[in-house]
Amino acid sequence: MSVMKKTKQKKYTKKYKICVIGAGHVGLVAAACFAELGHKVICVDKDKKRIVELKKKIIPFYEPDLEPLVVKGLKSKGLVFSSSLPEAIKKSQVIFIAVGTPPKADGSADLTAIGNVAHVIAKNLNSYKLIVGKSTVPVWTGKKIKETIHRYKNNSNDFDVASNPEFLREGKAIYDFFYPDRIVIGVESERAQEMLKDIYASVKAPIIVTDINTAELIKHASNSFLATKISFINAVSKVCDLAGADVEKIALAMGLDKRIGKDFLQAGIGYGGFCFPKDVEAFAYISKKLGYDFGLLKEVKAINEKQWFSYVEKVKEHLWIVKGKKIAILGLSFKPDTDDMRFAPSVDIVKAFIKEGAKLCLCDPQSLGEARKEFPASGGKKNKVKFTKDPYEAVKGADCLCLLTEWGEFKELDLKKVKKLMNYPLIADGRNMFDRDKVRQIGFGYIGMGK
Ligand code: UDX
Repeated sequence: MSVMKKTKQKKYTKKYKICVIGAGHVGLVAAACFAELGHKVICVDKDKKRIVELKKKIIPFYEPDLEPLVVKGLKSKGLVFSSSLPEAIKKSQVIFIAVGTPPKADGSADLTAIGNVAHVIAKNLNSYKLIVGKSTVPVWTGKKIKETIHRYKNNSNDFDVASNPEFLREGKAIYDFFYPDRIVIGVESERAQEMLKDIYASVKAPIIVTDINTAELIKHASNSFLATKISFINAVSKVCDLAGADVEKIALAMGLDKRIGKDFLQAGIGYGGFCFPKDVEAFAYISKKLGYDFGLLKEVKAINEKQWFSYVEKVKEHLWIVKGKKIAILGLSFKPDTDDMRFAPSVDIVKAFIKEGAKLCLCDPQSLGEARKEFPASGGKKNKVKFTKDPYEAVKGADCLCLLTEWGEFKELDLKKVKKLMNYPLIADGRNMFDRDKVRQIGFGYIGMGK
């Protein structure tokens, strides 16, 4: 709520008719926030069910502060939802493309949806339009969009293509939209530059203006660098395990050096989500295609994949026989404040314990719906996977508490109560969330990541 209150302040006078294509995490957040800035927004998605639900104010995923913005936009008519792309294009001056770019088996980004959208834009270019890429895409995608529109348009109407990559984090997306560290604008004309600057006029942030290729690369480079920081500290955590040192103190001391910075130095079971894993791969793929073998990124990925595996190995070593043991899994989403389990390390860890024959109780404040789809529990005696929102219920009779996502509510747990409920007091802290010494004093065995 606080984010919205702060944004009420200034509204820029120049308003645009904006079409946002894609009502996923990036598109829906952008659409609701553009409306909040005072623009007239049509958010389109080919998923008709999603559009019907959005019209009824049903938000398709969990994102704090998004629902009130959507409700407000619908009420003021600054935000409308539609499943007719041609109509939305015709009515708009600026078109933001925020469709999915999922990973293909070879690691490259699947740009089919972007290609299809470019084709529809070409066929419905009824006046000058600015077409802006917001999805994370490999370099040269803007160039391809431009070529496609030139190829298929059937009139002399002019257009510009631009890139405006999105840096929002799931769970903090609304805040990130209104208070970004920077706004990146990749353009080819003064007109496009001015329009994009107008659109963001009331958002106070440095604006970096570049060509389109550079803007596209900024996104891949930023996400890959953040993933590199995480894999670096995770590799250090392995050395700490072997040397008997504390990775948390190392990260703290390293982070105080301003040149390094304290963020993204949290060791754990590795990064997940729909951005880092796919962007690291896609950046390595496009670099190779262009003629540069980005070996560093392959190592970043390899370190990340080893993290969850070594976590499972540590738990196995402590429990000795895993078959038949009860394991409480606390946290399934790839990070707190989201219900997203895509590419979450928890998925690999849960699968590994199921394979070992453990009895699992999965607990998460938001992701149980996703978890039920991912791990359908069979009934009767075979029922080895249970689900609960209540962490105390999850740990009842457990031989190990596996902390996989550092949700606020798990930080607040009454650990003395937890110990009484467990069959054997062991905490495997995949996010280094608990105070190791305190936990040991209470009487738990403690497994950390590099501490
Ligand atoms: C990321 C980028 O931060 C964002 O700018 C971009 O637009 C999309 O990708 P997001 O995927 O929402 O955002 O999550 P983020 O908060 O960056 O975390 C990514 C993963 O890294 C999570 O699994 C998190 O647990 C992990 N992580 C993060 C660590 O393991 N250690 C850290 O120090 C930081």
